[in-house]
Amino acid sequence: MTILGIETSCDETSAAVIRDGKLMSNVTAAQLFHKKYGGVVPELASRAHQRLIVPVVDEALSNSGIRKDQLDAVAAVYGPGLIGSILVGLSFGKSMALGLGIPFVGVNHMEAHILSNLIDSPKPSFPFVNLTVSGGHTQLVLVRKPFDYELLGETKDDAAGEAFDKVAKMLGLAYPGGPEVDKLAAKGNSKFVEFPRSYLDEDSFEFSFSGLKTSVLYYLRRIEYDKSKNNGDSALVANICASFQAAVVDVLIQKLVRAAKKFQTRDIAIAGGVAANSELRRRLKAVAGENNLSLFIPKFEYCTDNGAMIAMVGYLKMLGGVASDLELTAEPNLELC
Ligand SMILES: Nc1ncnc2c1ncn2[C@@H]1O[C@H](COP(=O)(O)OP(=O)(O)OP(=O)(O)O)[C@@H](O)[C@H]1O
Ligand SMILES: [Mg+2]
Repeated sequence: MTILGIETSCDETSAAVIRDGKLMSNVTAAQLFHKKYGGVVPELASRAHQRLIVPVVDEALSNSGIRKDQLDAVAAVYGPGLIGSILVGLSFGKSMALGLGIPFVGVNHMEAHILSNLIDSPKPSFPFVNLTVSGGHTQLVLVRKPFDYELLGETKDDAAGEAFDKVAKMLGLAYPGGPEVDKLAAKGNSKFVEFPRSYLDEDSFEFSFSGLKTSVLYYLRRIEYDKSKNNGDSALVANICASFQAAVVDVLIQKLVRAAKKFQTRDIAIAGGVAANSELRRRLKAVAGENNLSLFIPKFEYCTDNGAMIAMVGYLKMLGGVASDLELTAEPNLELC
C-alpha cells in the first residue's frame, strides 16, 4: 500500500510518501517570508502553496523512488487551518487522485499531529494519552486506537504555541517566538518571576494561557520594559523567558501525567510544534521516568506541520478501506472528534 500525503493547512507546503507503513520521503518547504510580517499572512500563504505544491510533490516522489503510477491513494489535509491554504493541497490531491484513477483520502490535521507518533519506531501502544501543543491548538486526547479518540480537554483561550509567540512579541523577539523563547530560556533563571500557573479546577483537563500572557504584560509594564532594545539587558530577557516557559511547562506536564493515571495508560505522547520545546522534552522525560510511564515524542521534523503525518493517516484509513468522496470540502474549523 503506497500513499502520497499532502499538507498545506498553514504555512508549510509538505509532501511525503509512505509504503506499507514505512516513510519513504518527506519534503517540506517552509514559507520563511512570513517572518517579516510577524505572523502568517493568509493570502500570501495560499499563493506560496500554489507556487510550491508541484515542486514539493515532485521532490517527495523522486526522493522516495516511487513513480506516480505506483501510488495506491493520495491523502491531503482538509482542515482545520487557513481556508485558502487548505484549498490548494486539497484541490491538488483530489485532482491527482482523479487523474490517476486511485482513491482520495481527506485527513484531519489534528488527528495527523497525534498519529505522527506512529511514523518512527518504537511506537506508543494503545491506549495512550497524547498532548498536542501547536500554534493553534492545545488538546489532551485519550487515543484508544486510530480513529477512536476522546478529547479530554483543550484550551479555553490561547494555544500554547500562540502564548509563546505573543510573549516573544512583547519581548521584541523574532517570529515565530517559540524557538526564540526556548533558546533564551536555556540561559535564564526560571524562578526569577513567579508567573501564575493556571490549573483551573483540580480535576480539569482544560487549559488557559491568556492569564499568564497578561501577567507577563503587566510585569513588563511594571519594569518599564522597552522591547525595541530588550532593555539592553540580555540576562533579564533570558530570565523572563525561563520564568514564562516554566509556567507553561508545569501546567502541560501536570495535566498529561494526571490524565495517564486517571485512564491508566502506560504510554504518553506529545505532538505539534511546541513538542520541540527543549524544557518540555527534558522535564517530561524525567517526570515520565518517575511515574513509570513510557514517553513518545516525534522527531522534530514531524512535530511541526509535515506531509509524513498526513500520509500516515491516509495509509491507516486505506488499510481500513476508508477513502473519501471527491466532493469533500475544506473545513477551516474541523474538530478532532
Ligand atoms: N522550541 C519551541 N518551543 C516552544 N514553542 C515552539 C518551539 N518550536 C516551535 N514552537 C511553536 O510551535 C508553533 C507552531 O507549531 P505547528 O506548526 O505545529 O502549529 P500550527 O500547525 O501552526 O498550528 P495547528 O497545528 O494548531 O493548526 C508556533 O507557535 C511556534 O512558536
Ligand atoms: Mg499543525
